[in-house]
Order: sequence, then structure tokens, then C-alpha cells
Amino acid sequence: MTKTGRVIQLQVLSHDEGFLQRLFTVAASSGRIGDAVCEPVRVQRLEPSTPDKVLVIDLDSLSEPALQEIIQFRESGGRAWIAVTYQQPSSERLLHAMRAGANDYLSYSPSIEEFRAVMARAARGQPDTIPLQAPGRIISVFSNKGGVGTTMVAINAAASLAALQREPVVVVDLVLQHGDIALFLDSLTNCSVVSLVKELDRADASFLRSILPRHEAGMYVLPAPSAADEAELISSAQVNQLLAALRTAFAAVVIDAGNEFNDQTLAALDVSDQVVLVTLPNLPSIRNTRRGLELFERLHYDPSKLIVTVNRADAQDPLGRETMEEALGRPIQWNIPNDYATVVKAVNHGTALRLLKSGRRLADNIDRFVKTHLLRDRPEPPHSAARPAVWRQIFGVARAMTRGFVGIWRHGTT
Ligand SMILES: Nc1ncnc2c1ncn2[C@@H]1O[C@H](COP(=O)(O)OP(=O)(O)OP(=O)(O)O)[C@@H](O)[C@H]1O
Ligand SMILES: [Mg+2]
Repeated sequence: MTKTGRVIQLQVLSHDEGFLQRLFTVAASSGRIGDAVCEPVRVQRLEPSTPDKVLVIDLDSLSEPALQEIIQFRESGGRAWIAVTYQQPSSERLLHAMRAGANDYLSYSPSIEEFRAVMARAARGQPDTIPLQAPGRIISVFSNKGGVGTTMVAINAAASLAALQREPVVVVDLVLQHGDIALFLDSLTNCSVVSLVKELDRADASFLRSILPRHEAGMYVLPAPSAADEAELISSAQVNQLLAALRTAFAAVVIDAGNEFNDQTLAALDVSDQVVLVTLPNLPSIRNTRRGLELFERLHYDPSKLIVTVNRADAQDPLGRETMEEALGRPIQWNIPNDYATVVKAVNHGTALRLLKSGRRLADNIDRFVKTHLLRDRPEPPHSAARPAVWRQIFGVARAMTRGFVGIWRHGTT
């Protein structure tokens, strides 16, 4: 949030005078939170929301339907940041509250630090109101092999885009069975690709920006479902619908498309304006990337939409650039340096590289990558007119054939 002198309206719903008194005292002692001051007020019910409102709901002093009220509030489009409190919290009760639509938890006797932390998260999590200049671009980060850095690149490219483009950006975890984005970003939300797909009929831009958590690095986050079996519930058509909705709300939709070539990732790759193809500077990785490039060629993907990126480019004993380019049959467009300690530090802090004080070389490299290849005002690559027909022909009807291609690609070179 960039507004100055903002007021966070804090509405407190509780019948416990002791809790109310403690909360008002803590709020009065908290001073400014970022660029905002907090004004608490006691309310009797959930009021229609404005974006700059935070609700604290004491679920123990209210009767049971309080959770139901949160559900109804969300269903009627309520966008406020909701922090719940319990006298006796348990992980099960917290889960129920989050599923109902709560964003955060505040303890029954909050310290000033805890209160400030919740308010700061609320301020960051509030939807921004920047209108889009044009429909958002879809950028997939993909590889042909696990463990090459797809998640690292997706998250950090999204963070750089959010900072450099100054328009809303979302990072989406399309590794539906075992996505890592929630873990890498320490993101706690009950919203996932699967739950959002079910709500697409009411997903306008402001709803999307209000329902998704916003990371401190600036990008919004849409994680994979926490239960792997939920991934089965999504079709490629639903992936298309989801991305179409997201591009109405975000200037850039950055997808961690993982390394599996399935119907869902293919749907995303097909509609992507750009695909960052991540590889490592060793022969098996480069050979598999070559297979991937050949497959994209058979799918009639415009070569200019692919950005071949070597991660950990200066790792020990890398292949020479010329050897790699010869094996790939096309130029390498970007090299990302190897810095394991910095990547691990970012993951341990649940944050983006550009927010760390150390390891600037890696963060600066990704900023430059984004400026060079991903910023909106670079010239648009032309779209391939043959795309949908190719898609239907090869993947829609003949699933068996798809498996054949995938088999060749994933296993043919090892
Ligand atoms: N530039 C880098 N320098 C050093 N280490 C890196 C770099 N990029 C990624 N790593 C490390 O490589 C490992 C894999 O990274 P990441 O999880 O992003 O890859 P992935 O392709 O998404 O893997 P998965 O197949 O598990 O989804 C991690 O341990 C990460 O710390
Ligand atoms: Mg990953």
C-alpha cells in the first residue's frame, strides 16, 4: 500500500469486556503501523466492508454461528482482512476459521508486537486499487526436469515484476500435486488454485485481489492445494478459465508450471505469452531441454515466446556456452548465477531474494532478467495462429498420443 496517512479502521466483534479492553489498550499503544494509524471501534455484527477495514472476531465469546457469519460475509463480497481470536485455540479450530474465510489469528492477550504484526499483515494483504492498463501477460516458468530451480525463478521473477512494474502481479503454483510456493513464501491461506476455480463465476478483478494474500515482496500468491488428491479435480478447461480471470486482475500472472507435461500445464503453456524454460549447465539437463524445444516446435509454439535460461550457470564444471548452444540448437538467453546459501536463506525466511540484504548478485541478476525479458513494455512476441488447433489435435483428442510424446521427452534422453 502506498497511500500516506492512511487510517486502518479496526472493527472488533466480541462480548468479552476484558478482551475488548486489552485490545483497545494495545491498539492505543501501537503508534503508526507503516504509513497508517489504527482506529479501533466495537461493533455488534459484520458490517459491509471497505478495503481499508480490519475485523477482529472473538469466536469464543460469540455464539457458534459466528463462523457462519464469516462465510456469509465472504459470500456477499466482504473484502475486509479478518483476524480471529480464541481463548482456547487449537489447530482444528484455526483451520475451521481459515476455511470460513479468516485471514489471520490474534491471541486473546495480544502483545503490542503481535498486534502490530497482524495489522502490518493486514495492511499488506489489503487489495490495492491500481487499475490495469491492459489485460495481464501470462508468463510460465517450466523445465523438463525436477530440481532445476523452476520455483525459485517463478517466485523471484514475480517479486521483481511486482517491484519494477508497479502494477499488481500474482504468482500461481500450478504444480498441483506437490507445489512448493506456499512453503517457499511461508504463505498461510485457505485459498488455492482448486478452491479459486470453484468460485470463478464471481471472480471479478477486485474479488481476486481481495481474496489472495499479498506477500511482503509485493506479489499476490495463489498456492497449489494442500491436499494432493484435490489436484485431480481440475481440468485443462478450468485452468484456462482461471488464467483468463487472473489476467483481468493482474498485470502479470507468473506460473510455476513445474516439470510435468500434463493437460493442466499444457493448458497454461499454450496460453502463455512467454515461457521461461529453465535448465542447468550439464549435459543431461541440456539434452532434455533440447527435447522440450523440439516438442514445442511440433506444437507450433512461436520460438520467440520461449526464453532459454540456464540456472546455476557458474556452478562447478559447467558446460561451455558454445557447447550448450550447439546441443540446444538455439542461443541461451539468460544465465542465473549459482548461490545456494542465498537461495536457502530466502526459503528459510519465506521471502524473495530481493528482500534479503545479502546475496545481492543473485537478486540483481533476476531484476535484470525481468527488465530485459519480461517487463510489459517490451515488444509483444507475435502469437501463433495455429495454437488452438494444434492443441486440440494433439492433446485434446488423443490422450494416448500425449503420453507417447511425454514418454519420449521425459525418458528418451537418459
Ligand atoms: N541459482 C541457484 N543457486 C543455487 N541454488 C539454487 C539456485 N536455484 C535453485 N537452487 C536450489 O536448487 C534446489 C531446487 O530449486 P527449486 O525448488 O526452485 O527447483 P524446482 O525445479 O522447482 O524443483 P522441484 O522439481 O522440486 O519443484 C533448491 O534446493 C534451491 O535452493
Ligand atoms: Mg518446484
